[in-house]
Amino acid sequence: MPGTVTKFPAIPRHIAIIMDGNGRWAKERGLPRREGHRAGAESVREVMEACKELGVEYLTLFAFSSENWSRPESEVRALMSLLERFLRDKAKDLDQQNVRLLAIGQLDRLPPKTLALLDSIIVRTARHSAMTMVLALSYGAREEIVAAARSIAADAAAGLLDPDAVTAELFASRLQTTRIPDPDLLIRTSGEMRISNFLLWQISYAEIVIVKKNWPDFRQADLFEAVREYQHRHRRFGAL
Ligand code: FPP
Repeated sequence: MPGTVTKFPAIPRHIAIIMDGNGRWAKERGLPRREGHRAGAESVREVMEACKELGVEYLTLFAFSSENWSRPESEVRALMSLLERFLRDKAKDLDQQNVRLLAIGQLDRLPPKTLALLDSIIVRTARHSAMTMVLALSYGAREEIVAAARSIAADAAAGLLDPDAVTAELFASRLQTTRIPDPDLLIRTSGEMRISNFLLWQISYAEIVIVKKNWPDFRQADLFEAVREYQHRHRRFGAL
C-alpha cells in the first residue's frame, strides 16, 4: 500500500510470472519450438504446486499475449492444444488442491473449444479457496487499460459518472483484475529485462526478479530462490 513502509511480509501474496524462453530452450536442443512449450507446461505444473506449498494466494501466469496471435498458425495451434491438455489434466488436481482458476485477457479471441473448456473449469473451481491461479490469455495490458478507460468514458458521457469521481481505485475496479490484489513479486525468465505489455497498471509497486534460466528449466527450487530474493528486498512504496 503506498505510503506504508513494510519490512517484511515473508511470503508474497501474489506472484506474477512472464514465462519466457521456451523457444530458445527448444532451439538449444535442436527441437521444434512446440517442444519448448511442452516442457514449459511441466514448469507450470511444478510452480503451481510450489506456490500452493508456500501459501501464495494468487499466481498469475502470462500464458499467451495479444501479440502472440501473430506467430505462425502451427505454433498458435500447438499452444492452444497444450493449454487444453493442461486444463483437462489439471481439472481434477485443481479440485483436490482447492485451487480456483480465473482468466484475464481478450478471451473471446480464443478458439470456441478452448474457451468452453476454460469456462467450464472456471465455473467448476469458483468456490475453491486455497489459492487462485490466473491465466493471462490473449492478454495485453494496454488493451485492458484502454477498455477500462472506454467504460469510464461511456459512463461519464451517459451522465452516470462525474469525471471528478475517477480515482485510481475506481480505475482499478474497471480492470479485469478487479478483486485481485496487485502482484508483490514479478518474475521473468530467460534473462530479458522487459515487461512486454503485462499487467502495466498492477505492477506499479511489484518487486521484479529476473532469472537467467529459460522457462522450461525453471522449477520448484528456482521459485523458492526467487521468493528468497524478494524476501531480502526492502519495500518502501515510495516512502523513506
Ligand atoms: C514464451 O516463450 C512463452 C510463451 C509464448 C507461452 C507460454 C506457454 C506455456 C509455458 C505452455 C502452456 C501454458 C500453460 C498455462 C499450460 P517464447 O516462445 O517467447 O520463447 P523465446 O523467446 O525463446 O522464443
